[in-house]
Formats: sequence, C-alpha cells, structure tokens
Amino acid sequence: MNAATSFATAVAENRHDQEWLGGISTGHLAKPGEVDISHKVILYLEGISVSFDGFKALNNLNLAIDAGELRCIIGPNGAGKTTMMDVITGKTRPDEGRCFFGQTIDLTQLREAEIAHAGIGRKFQKPTIFENLSVFENLELALKTDKRARFSLFAWLSDDQRDKIVDTLKLIRLDHEADRPAGLLSHGQKQWLEIGMLLVQDPKLLLLDEPVAGMTDDETARTGELFKSLTGKHSLVVVEHDMAFIEQLGGKVTVLHEGSVLAEGDLATVQADERVIEVYLGR
Ligand SMILES: Nc1ncnc2c1ncn2[C@@H]1O[C@H](COP(=O)(O)OP(=O)(O)OP(=O)(O)O)[C@@H](O)[C@H]1O
Ligand SMILES: [Mg+2]
Repeated sequence: MNAATSFATAVAENRHDQEWLGGISTGHLAKPGEVDISHKVILYLEGISVSFDGFKALNNLNLAIDAGELRCIIGPNGAGKTTMMDVITGKTRPDEGRCFFGQTIDLTQLREAEIAHAGIGRKFQKPTIFENLSVFENLELALKTDKRARFSLFAWLSDDQRDKIVDTLKLIRLDHEADRPAGLLSHGQKQWLEIGMLLVQDPKLLLLDEPVAGMTDDETARTGELFKSLTGKHSLVVVEHDMAFIEQLGGKVTVLHEGSVLAEGDLATVQADERVIEVYLGR
C-alpha cells in the first residue's frame, strides 16, 4: 500500500470523523473554549444509573470534576468504571440521571461525535493508531480530522499546525521517532502516540481507561509525569488499577463499587477506609 492509499484508508477507518468528512455541517455545535466552567466544575454527573438486562452497572452515581483537575478512579473489576466513561462519551445512554460538561452542555443530549467535538477526548485501553503511518503522520491525521477545524485533509500543514505537532512530539517523548512507522514503536510509545493524537485536538477533558496497563515501570513513571504536566490546561479522569501510579499522580481518588461512589479523598484516606479495604484493596 502506498502512502496516499494508506492515508486514505486510515481516514476512512477513523472512527470519529466520517460525518465531518461527509460534509455534514457542525455549525450548530458548541465551539471549543465555550465550556462554561464559571462554577469551576467541568464534569458533573448526578444520579446516573445504567442497567444491562436488569443488572445495574451504574447505580445513582454522583461525580464532580473540577476544571484542571487530575482525578483517579479506582475500584474492583465490574465496578462500572468503563461504563461511566461510556456514559460521558455518549456511547451508553443512562436510564436516569444528569451528565453535564461545564454548566450548560447536557451530554445526554449529544451524539458521540458531538461530544468529542465539544472537547472530550477518550483513550481506550488498546491503542488505535495507524501502524503503517509514521508517528508524525498519525499526529497530522489526528490534527486534520479534528472536526472543529475546517481544512482539507490533503492541504499542506500551516506553520502553526506543524509547530503544534512538533510540540506534541516533544511532550509525548517521541520527537526522535517522528519518521518511524508507528507499528514499530514499543507498547508504551504507542500509548503515548495515541495520547498525542488526542492532545493535538486540544480536548478540555481527557478520559483515560487503564493507560499504563502493559507498560514497563519506566514507561509508567514517564506517563505519570506527562499526565501531571497536562493538568491545569486539561482536566484528566484516569481509571487505573496500578496503585503506585495513582500515588505518583497524587490527585483526588474516587473509589467505585457496584456502580456507585464508595469513597473519595486523597489516596491515603481511601486506602485507610475499611470499606475500600474490604471490597478492593484486600487485607
Ligand atoms: N454492554 C454491556 N452489556 C451487558 N453488561 C455490561 C455491558 N457493559 C458492561 N456490562 C457489565 O457492567 C458491569 C460494569 O462493567 P465495567 O466494564 O463498567 O466495569 P469496570 O469497572 O470498567 O471493570 P474493569 O476494572 O474490569 O475494567 C460489569 O458487570 C459488566 O459485565
Ligand atoms: Mg473497565
């Protein structure tokens, strides 16, 4: 496959962007930067419940994330952590409850692509990069298929766009790998590339589901540094089982259990909580 074909294939496969490429107007959508954080809260979930065949995966879940915050979500398998991300990103509709992005954007009324467009980026556990394209081309593709921008996929990059890719390459520590096919990167580097593909689209809120699973200790520590450097400008919600990583991140921790919040506070506080020890950490 030549570069142009693989580029076109990559575009056709890109899961979020078919509507934009089909030319559907997105003019009615909130523009980036329009998230109302006047009350400091960027994400607000109230009384969210989701049932699958009568089983409550989420059960009256309440959560508020401040703008610029780095929040960790922990909890046993099946606690509802991924389902919570599915609700925020519009993949799953709640049976009950409210889910707001800032003060005014009701996420339960938006489609998945509209939610991404509003400024919520999600990283799934398995990297969804384009292995045949170079690291640089992956970032270029992510930038050019950002639905908020209106430039052609086949247009030259502007200086600003090129600078943004170069800055992102440095941030994700792949500036020396820019021309390598992404398929040749280590597992950890692929994860960073996918994070970079989200970052070039300037998300206000990043959702990361088990981002350090399968990484080496060194890659995990570097990922922690990266996430900490993103706070303030971005808000991050990180689901993880790796306690050393959560300790490194140092943010507030929310413990989910059976679809609800069991405990919330700094890591030391939730680790000392008898109920958390009982259901998750073990004795
Ligand atoms: N589409 C679905 N259909 C039926 N049941 C589902 C569906 N998605 C999730 N569930 C169930 O909902 C519960 C919560 O699952 P979820 O994936 O949110 O847990 P989790 O906290 O992310 O767990 P893990 O730590 O293992 O990733 C589980 O019992 C799961 O089997
Ligand atoms: Mg999960």
